[in-house]
Amino acid sequence: MSYFKPAVPSTLPKGAPPVRHYLQFSDFSTEEYGYLLERAAFIKQKFKTFQRHQPLVDRTLAMIFEKASTRTRVSFEAGMYQLGGSVVHLTTGDSQLGRSEPIEDSAKVISRMTDIVMIRTYEQSKLESFAKHSRVPVINGLTNEFHPCQILADIFTYIEHRGPIEGKTVAWVGDGNNMANTWLQAAAQLGFHLRVSTPSGYEVNEVTAAAPASMGAGSYKTYSDPMEACAGADLVTTDVWTSMGYEAENEVRRKAFAAWCVDRKMMAAAAPSALFMHCLPAHRGEEVEAEVIDGPQSVVWDEAENRMHVQKALMEYLLLGKQ
Ligand code: CP
Ligand code: NVA
Repeated sequence: MSYFKPAVPSTLPKGAPPVRHYLQFSDFSTEEYGYLLERAAFIKQKFKTFQRHQPLVDRTLAMIFEKASTRTRVSFEAGMYQLGGSVVHLTTGDSQLGRSEPIEDSAKVISRMTDIVMIRTYEQSKLESFAKHSRVPVINGLTNEFHPCQILADIFTYIEHRGPIEGKTVAWVGDGNNMANTWLQAAAQLGFHLRVSTPSGYEVNEVTAAAPASMGAGSYKTYSDPMEACAGADLVTTDVWTSMGYEAENEVRRKAFAAWCVDRKMMAAAAPSALFMHCLPAHRGEEVEAEVIDGPQSVVWDEAENRMHVQKALMEYLLLGKQ
């Protein structure tokens, strides 16, 4: 029997950038967002015109879900196949993650056999531990604190419909949750104004959400009255009152959030060209009136579809750098 040496312990091609992760919106610079958004438009156009774009042949995406998902799973899975790669899907229940294998060990093993990892989990710290021990790029597919892929898709969708978001006004109505925290980072990074209206006790987490001061000119202001937050806004957006992991608070939240339902009056107070967005899944009659989410200002279906296009650009960028 002869001996053989281990192969070079990296799956990245020669000349590829060092391993980068996408754990929160502030992980990328304004300039990188400029590139990514343009690239997503290019990749979307190719896909829509049936032109093959397969830079990730033989590469594998591991998707780890500790919470439920429809859009994130479908968009990452379909997107990776379209890029020429393949996908491994893991959940807490059907892997050793649910049987207390340390996250560090899971990261070391999974990142030896796959090329890029997407994780949906609870605490941001868990995602960070995984990334710290991963040899390959890790993407945040939603944590209690942040949902950067969704905001990337939302911004792409805004630009598709209305042009640059810089200098525009975005109104967030509802819970100060992972989506709201990420909007806060995006405002700082991309230079738009964010108005945040949450019920008292459900404010955004300024500590985790605030981007470093050096990140740019974006600003945000809090409003106790959601109508006031919507007045003249270019985009009105909301999310469920009870996020995954907070189900025990459902009844208390229903009462606290009763005045934070995006209705036709709020949309009428916004700019005449205002768009409505919701990351979905939505509860009509709770955080949004059916007439708004199913109305002419709503772009929620484009927003959902665009998850796939922006994430294709994101995976390509993390693995191959600028093209
Ligand atoms: N918006 C979003 O992330 O949806 P899923 O929970 O269905 O993935
Ligand atoms: N804030 C919601 C978003 C779902 C996509 C949650 O965390 O459940």
